[in-house]
Amino acid sequence: MNAHIIGTGSFLPAKVVTNFELAEHMDTSDEWIVSRTGIRQRHIAVGETTAGMALEAAKRALEDAGMQPEELEMILLATVSPDHIVPSAACEVQAMLGAKNAVAIELNAACSGFVFGLNTAQAYVRAGIYKKILVVGVETLSKIVDWSDRSTCILFGDGAGAAVLTADENAGIQDFIQFADGTKGEALLCDAKPLRNLFVQNEQKQEHVRMDGQEVFKFAVRRVSESIDQLLERNSLATQEIGCYILHQANARIIQSVVKHLKEDGEKFPMNVERCGNTSGASVPLLLDELNRAGRLKRGEKVIMSGFGGGLTWGSIYMIW
Ligand code: COA
Repeated sequence: MNAHIIGTGSFLPAKVVTNFELAEHMDTSDEWIVSRTGIRQRHIAVGETTAGMALEAAKRALEDAGMQPEELEMILLATVSPDHIVPSAACEVQAMLGAKNAVAIELNAACSGFVFGLNTAQAYVRAGIYKKILVVGVETLSKIVDWSDRSTCILFGDGAGAAVLTADENAGIQDFIQFADGTKGEALLCDAKPLRNLFVQNEQKQEHVRMDGQEVFKFAVRRVSESIDQLLERNSLATQEIGCYILHQANARIIQSVVKHLKEDGEKFPMNVERCGNTSGASVPLLLDELNRAGRLKRGEKVIMSGFGGGLTWGSIYMIW
């Protein structure tokens, strides 16, 4: 049995912030941001919460799947920007949905989070433990980016996406490949709370995202290309057989470099980074939901998904839609 996506949903905060609006607050320009990243605007939360956005995306995915929340056996929620440390956003979504029969687990793999969530769902389905699983990717990155650092804050946006999966004998996830390299963690970093207790009061931490942009760029192009190559090779697939590649929407130039490496048709690599920016763990399910609702994905079509980001983490999935 494979974990097979039967419904998708997404949610974006109402406030849209264009590059021009950012340029009113910092020394940047639409021309610089578009030429380096392909991003023209992003959605920024001004009242929305991480759990609230996840809930909306989850409700829409359940409706699309024709499934009731009580039927769910597991909720896997990927985020690096929850509202609380405890309870997890996964548990908050479980409560708000009324998914009382589902265990709820949060997963932190940064921008690879949703892809790793799907892989985890696949492992549970393959093991015969669960059949009905909700996977959510959600971020309120606007609260952890450093708004005084123009080289990072212009990249990110907020939002949520979700997918409902059931066990299927044929369609669904056929194979996946996933990696981590903790030795390169400093390339994309955000500290948690500092050590402060009765005995230590002075540790300084930077509770904002810091990034070595060029290092991350090189990592992404190399590792995403490699992981797709490996997946195609071990499943004896030619690129011509793949109908669609759904890549983490970090930067249009990263995606264009992967297209070039694979000698593929750019049309097979849909993007929404122009409108949403980099929404980390939410980017793959946001794009997936857009494509699903637009009828862009055909049942039986072979699809590749890839995630990459902080950790460093990366991975790809081969699925039959
Ligand atoms: N507006 C205008 N100028 C900016 C700017 C901004 N928002 N941000 C940085 N600059 C300036 C720098 O200060 C620097 O100026 P200097 O040459 O006078 O020192 C110049 O632009 C070049 O900076 P650099 O950091 O070398 O730019 P870059 O070409 O590497 O582009 C990124 C920066 C972040 C767009 C690019 O490295 C990138 O896309 N990296 C991948 C990031 C990513 O996708 N991360 C998430 C992965 S999940």
